[in-house]
Amino acid sequence: IPVNLDKPYHAVAFEPLINNSNVMHHMILFGCPEISEQSNPHACGPVDNVCRTFLVQWSMGIKGPICSFPDTGVRFGVDSLKSLSLQIHWNNDQHNTGIKDSSGVRVYYTSKLQKYDVGNVQVGQNDIEIPPAQRHFQQQGSCSSDCTKKWLQQPIYLTRAHIHLHYTGDGGILDLVRNGETVKEIIRDNSFDYHSPPAHNLQDPVEVLPGDEIRLTCFYNTQDGAKQRNITLYWGEGSDGEMCYAFITYFPKVNNFDQCIQFDRYDICSTDGNALMGNCVVEGFVRYYQRELADQIIKYCSNDYTFNGHIIDMNKICSKSCESSIAELTENPCMQDRIGKLTLREYLTFEDSWSKVKVILDAAKRYCMIDQLKAILIIT
Ligand SMILES: *[C@@H]1O[C@H](CO)[C@@H](O)[C@H](O)[C@H]1NC(C)=O
Ligand SMILES: *[C@@H]1O[C@H](CO)[C@@H](O)[C@H](O)[C@H]1NC(C)=O
Repeated sequence: IPVNLDKPYHAVAFEPLINNSNVMHHMILFGCPEISEQSNPHACGPVDNVCRTFLVQWSMGIKGPICSFPDTGVRFGVDSLKSLSLQIHWNNDQHNTGIKDSSGVRVYYTSKLQKYDVGNVQVGQNDIEIPPAQRHFQQQGSCSSDCTKKWLQQPIYLTRAHIHLHYTGDGGILDLVRNGETVKEIIRDNSFDYHSPPAHNLQDPVEVLPGDEIRLTCFYNTQDGAKQRNITLYWGEGSDGEMCYAFITYFPKVNNFDQCIQFDRYDICSTDGNALMGNCVVEGFVRYYQRELADQIIKYCSNDYTFNGHIIDMNKICSKSCESSIAELTENPCMQDRIGKLTLREYLTFEDSWSKVKVILDAAKRYCMIDQLKAILIIT
């Protein structure tokens, strides 16, 4: 940001400057807490995760500048955002070569501070599973009552929101829930087109009290026309994955309250990035599996360390030591319910050892009738 960053400023409007409208699909402006070292254009990646404050999104269909609500602004400068990161998504579905674009965002700012700082928070669901051939399939994720109780010391006011789904997205509703009852429908999209998702300005800001739930319901159509799918869709960044998020602008800003989502029924409303999902830290569990657990199961449950998956030794497969090493796996919080499905789908199935371990689990279930295996074998 080419200004003296020792002073505070408020950005009050963002004007999309669209140069090549044939390929511009959407752009998202993020704020970064430090002066970015990644100042050259580059492909989006993990290096950009430091710029996690979502400021504004433009997508096809949004016309004109995006202004902040009266008396509010996005603070930057001293003790605040120091640089901006603009993510641009181009769409070149004809695969043409030689295409150029110089689109961007013009930021209007002032050193005359507004009354309130603007905050932005992402709400939604990270555990998505949409079967093929569904006409109106629902997924739901909340910024839960527990999370708003934890994060909000005073009411906040929502001023703008849009729902973000991918290609099979078919609509969504954002509700305000108080004491278990829906007290207000904040926004509703009765249909959804990935290429021009509507943004909603809330003329009357919606008051959210500590303890309220902000509930997002997303709908998908995997049956009709171009949305038709013949495989199950899971959460994913790419066009073959789905999402269920609402991006919400509010004031006054609550520091670090920028993501309030769920995985299945577990809240992810912390800032440490290492979200605890029902006592499961997936990365830690996967490391444990890689370093010890897989070897242990293969060693105690099969005849041969180089077990090839076909020879089952009845004495070993039903032994106490085999049973307890299997229990280490199946009783781990990361192997329960939907988190277990995710752990398997995204991690364990990519391990070389998994094919052996899976055969062992199947055999143990079949021959030893270990009850605790039921859960895991349903999901394998
Ligand atoms: C896009 O940018 C190029 C290079 O800056 C410029 O020549 C061209 O006129 C621009 N087109 C539009 C539509 O702004
Ligand atoms: C599933 O869809 C893909 C791409 O749309 C297609 O190539 C494939 O043949 C389909 N498979 C079945 C079993 O219908």
